Amino acid sequence: MSDRSVMSLYGPIVIESLRAAGFSVSEILVPAGETAKTLAVAERCWDECLTAGLDRTSTLLALGGGAVGDLAGFVAATYMRGIPFVQLPTTLLAQVDASIGGKVAIDHPRAKNLIGAFHQPLMVVSDPSVLSTLPDPEFRSGLAEVVKHGIVLDAAYFSDIEAHAPEIISKDLPTLERIIAVSCRLKGRIVEADEREGGLRAALNYGHTVGHAIEAATQFSKWLHGEAVSLGIVAAARIAQRLGLADVETVRRQVSLLRAVGLPVSFSAPSPQMIVQAIGRDKKARDGKVPFVLAPRIGEFRLVFDIPADLVSQVLAEMQGAAG
Ligand SMILES: NC(=O)c1ccc[n+]([C@@H]2O[C@H](COP(=O)([O-])OP(=O)(O)OC[C@H]3O[C@@H](n4cnc5c(N)ncnc54)[C@H](O)[C@@H]3O)[C@@H](O)[C@H]2O)c1
Ligand SMILES: [Zn+2]
Repeated sequence: MSDRSVMSLYGPIVIESLRAAGFSVSEILVPAGETAKTLAVAERCWDECLTAGLDRTSTLLALGGGAVGDLAGFVAATYMRGIPFVQLPTTLLAQVDASIGGKVAIDHPRAKNLIGAFHQPLMVVSDPSVLSTLPDPEFRSGLAEVVKHGIVLDAAYFSDIEAHAPEIISKDLPTLERIIAVSCRLKGRIVEADEREGGLRAALNYGHTVGHAIEAATQFSKWLHGEAVSLGIVAAARIAQRLGLADVETVRRQVSLLRAVGLPVSFSAPSPQMIVQAIGRDKKARDGKVPFVLAPRIGEFRLVFDIPADLVSQVLAEMQGAAG
């Protein structure tokens, strides 16, 4: 399964090598990006699986970004009560994040990723050289998750990214290979320990409470996911500093690394009020409180529940003051 543009770039080589290895292959084409993650598209995929004669011994391959991966995984999780699937991620975000961990979903008209399952892929195959055709903004957006892994999970990894930011943004292949492998291992370790997000997996939400709110308050149109997460990381870092949890240097390193890889660290809209309201509607809210992941130091995280809305607002206003 793939979308038209990824299929035209990388479909032939995947299909030919599978056929050469003796597999019989059928293609399912889906719309590109988030528009693929609907019930109507999933239904058409189930039809195409039936028409192609797929049964429980068949394997569904997801060739594309996180959207194709989420949809294909959802179709694989539900078709005949679940068939195996393989992730062949072609965006940086999908290689370091979406393809790992078994969360698969389609969107509900009222909320993203609301209808889904936990269905682990049989295998994830990432080839950094496919990132050469990925538009730069999409590539940089994926780097927000890479930086996030360093901040909350591994101080040595963070220093490695800091030291090699120029090679990373110029898509140097050996560097990318190393970065993608470390990020996969770090996320994989978290998911193995906490597949269903009881606690540890929440660390991966660093920067995402404010990030998701910025995306939602702008109808997912102004910022790419990783750009919004970058702003969310800056907000979380400043909140930790205001609470006396993190020192100035810890905040400075996060902000300068995000800037060094071309991600935004200040912004002018939406307003702090709109963002705070959107945080209140977060699906992770429990008893009206949204858990915030904070980083007391590089390589460490802590879940904090009682962040006053006023503090979030003030920090966002400061970031907007710094815009321009
Ligand atoms: N399941 C999870 O754990 C998880 C985690 C994070 C994100 N996600 C999901 O991932 C999705 C976003 O994924 P994404 O950022 O990969 O974007 P995407 O899947 O929406 O793809 C973006 C665009 O890039 C194009 N593209 C993909 N690979 C390319 C390549 N190598 N060269 C040129 N063009 C290419 C695609 O055709 C598409 O138009 C969202 O739906 C999000 O909810 C899921
Ligand atoms: Zn993310």
